[in-house]
Amino acid sequence: MSLTGKHILSSDQFERQDLERLFQLADLLVPVARGEQVTRVLEGAVMASLFFEASTRTRLSCETAFLRLGGGVTSTTGTEVTSIAKGESLADTSRVVTGYVDLVVMRHPEVSSIHEFAAATNVPVINAGNGAGEHPTQALLDMFALHREFDRLGKPMDGRRIALVGDLKHGRTVHSLVKLLSRYQDMTIVCVAPEELGMPEYLLELAAERGHRVEVTDQPSLGLKDADLVYTTRLQTERFKDRPLPYSDDFRIDSALVNRVCREDAVIMHPLPRDSRPGSNDLSADLNRDPRLAVFRQTDAGIPTRMALFASVLGVADEIAGSLRPARWYRPEYTGPDDAPFYK
Ligand code: NCD
Repeated sequence: MSLTGKHILSSDQFERQDLERLFQLADLLVPVARGEQVTRVLEGAVMASLFFEASTRTRLSCETAFLRLGGGVTSTTGTEVTSIAKGESLADTSRVVTGYVDLVVMRHPEVSSIHEFAAATNVPVINAGNGAGEHPTQALLDMFALHREFDRLGKPMDGRRIALVGDLKHGRTVHSLVKLLSRYQDMTIVCVAPEELGMPEYLLELAAERGHRVEVTDQPSLGLKDADLVYTTRLQTERFKDRPLPYSDDFRIDSALVNRVCREDAVIMHPLPRDSRPGSNDLSADLNRDPRLAVFRQTDAGIPTRMALFASVLGVADEIAGSLRPARWYRPEYTGPDDAPFYK
């Protein structure tokens, strides 16, 4: 399927061959993301980034991806400083803003927001998170990072055992991720969540209908066993009507648990941010030097993946290979002092 001119609202828009094409392009763009090469295929294009909900990495990496393609970015954050505070509808905001720019990336706390916004314009709109709904660009970068990890480990994507851990009810990243995982074959998807925070039933059914094994448990020590990927998530405290109870101690994913139950060649991911406050029992920083922890390789994957997506949606993907030239500025060999030696 050609992505040119399309709104990207759900990860279910991507079939396996779309993913493979996108990852090939993202592979080509890794040196651009690292500041080793330059491309200007979007010179003159402008993107609007509209973030009506908290964000660090999604906003900055979408904006950086567009800038590294040679485009320009205009942005607004929060509703207080926009005309939404004066009662403007999302449809009006959409028509106005998309008269200015060539692409919009939007995050909003309401599930229906992205559909309303996209229905009011022919300019491509990218969903950067609609409440507890979906987060398709995160799932694309998760899959791209995973494809690079499995390549390095000599494992095919098909036939893997994947543990999704934490607040699977409200976590939009895992909702989008299940849809992409289910495009591969013969997967075992293990949903590891406290009983009241389980994966929505329709997603369990979708995975089963597409021929995968689905398992459900509330015990991380069982669910993480033998998993090729352990994908942990933050308790989505902002989605609860009442004050949420923190994860129980069992959900603290730390080196003691990982060394006790995980495979030697497991990959551990988290969309981040992880909640590092005492008692939060999220993914522990004591794993930072464990090469299985792929969270920063995962965040780094955000730029090439989003570049590949934007170039595809704006119809210039085929121009990238011929446009690359070397960059001249300084950049350290490794970004983080704890980066694994195999990661470059
Ligand atoms: C996630 C999000 O906003 O849904 N973060 C992200 O985009 N990387 C996950 C989260 O907030 O827990």
